[in-house]
Amino acid sequence: MRLSSRFVLIGLLLCELAAAEAPSASRVDVMHWWVSAGERNSINAMRQHIEHQGLVWHEEAVAGSGTNRFSDELRQRVADGKPPMAAQAIGYDIQDWARQGQLVMLDDIAREQQWDEVIPFAIQHLSKYQDHWVATPVNAHSTNWLWVNHAQLTRLGLKQPDTWPDLIAMLDSAKAAGLIPISIGHEAWEHTLLFESVAAGAGGVEFYRRTFVELAPNAQDIEMLQLIFERMSQLRNYLDTGFSERSWNQATDLARSGEALMQVQGTWVNGEFSAHGLVPGQDYDCFRFPDTQGMMLLNSDQFILFKDYPAEPETRDMFVSTLISIDLQRDLNIAGGAAPARVDVPRDQFNACGQQAINDMRADNMRRTIMGSIAMGNAHPAPVKNALYQVITDHLMGRISNTQAVTRVESIITAAPRP
Ligand code: GAL
Repeated sequence: MRLSSRFVLIGLLLCELAAAEAPSASRVDVMHWWVSAGERNSINAMRQHIEHQGLVWHEEAVAGSGTNRFSDELRQRVADGKPPMAAQAIGYDIQDWARQGQLVMLDDIAREQQWDEVIPFAIQHLSKYQDHWVATPVNAHSTNWLWVNHAQLTRLGLKQPDTWPDLIAMLDSAKAAGLIPISIGHEAWEHTLLFESVAAGAGGVEFYRRTFVELAPNAQDIEMLQLIFERMSQLRNYLDTGFSERSWNQATDLARSGEALMQVQGTWVNGEFSAHGLVPGQDYDCFRFPDTQGMMLLNSDQFILFKDYPAEPETRDMFVSTLISIDLQRDLNIAGGAAPARVDVPRDQFNACGQQAINDMRADNMRRTIMGSIAMGNAHPAPVKNALYQVITDHLMGRISNTQAVTRVESIITAAPRP
């Protein structure tokens, strides 16, 4: 080989080495639980925006909707000294990681980009630990919705239910017509999600806040629990009898095909339906759970960054700024079905359910009626959530009476440390 061609070869090799090394500086390692069709669309939107900034995307998905299945895996990685750069997190789990001193503080970037001005208070409360930003919120899901099959609604001559009796009448006609009135999946968080809508509808904002957020119910609030469990018992008669076999998105499929009239679930169902090409007002309707109009039970997906991951500060900053950007929040939430986590994202490209979610979030932020979802761990710390899961599922499965359920909830709440 001539000397000059040897130089060319060495030059090429060096270039290749440099190219092989480049990704490590700009690589983002992201752990999340978004695996259903609509959720994949959200993650793809995130990936596109991240890659557009020249970062190299690497992801690990662990299904589990924020449950222990996901958190155990994340905890294991952290314990093994191999945390991801960023992980999806919801509710009080964020505080828990921050308390352990694991998280990167985001105050500088938050100040620079004025997060305090554009993120609703109820979300800030969950994204901050001891007044420091430790998480980047990407959406504002809410759980108090009915997702109704439009063809069945029309066929049965039904309309939006306003109150509890309206809902029961609607479920009765679905049952008489041989439909599954409400589809639901097998996990405790899904049962709790139904419970929280029933609770908020029966007891109202102040009851919900005192009992489940402040963990300081008064005597009337405890009495109210009796009515709530009576209503849950009533709903038992309308649930899909095969629910112990189903995941949340298989339950969504039943509402999509019209085998079920409706599913009571979070706005991620809007993402799921959209991923299958369905359109609000034509194929499905989104109604606030009766008597919860004017309230938003919140679940905000957020991303936390681990201190012990050897990231370049510029890569971290770029990642975080991209997640909070108006453009990403628009595209991610058009795909995922939620409202964005910031109040200033233009709503014109969202579908009708997305637009309603955005309007509700803006109004409820001003009214201070955005409250954390119990089911998704946004209302109180995980030990209380897990204890409530157990009672609510035991009750829904008919293993305990209404009165036993009330006594157990009362003792969980009164024994819990006040936040
Ligand atoms: C939640 C998550 C939502 C949605 C849902 C169902 O925990 O915050 O974004 O993915 O689970 O998997």
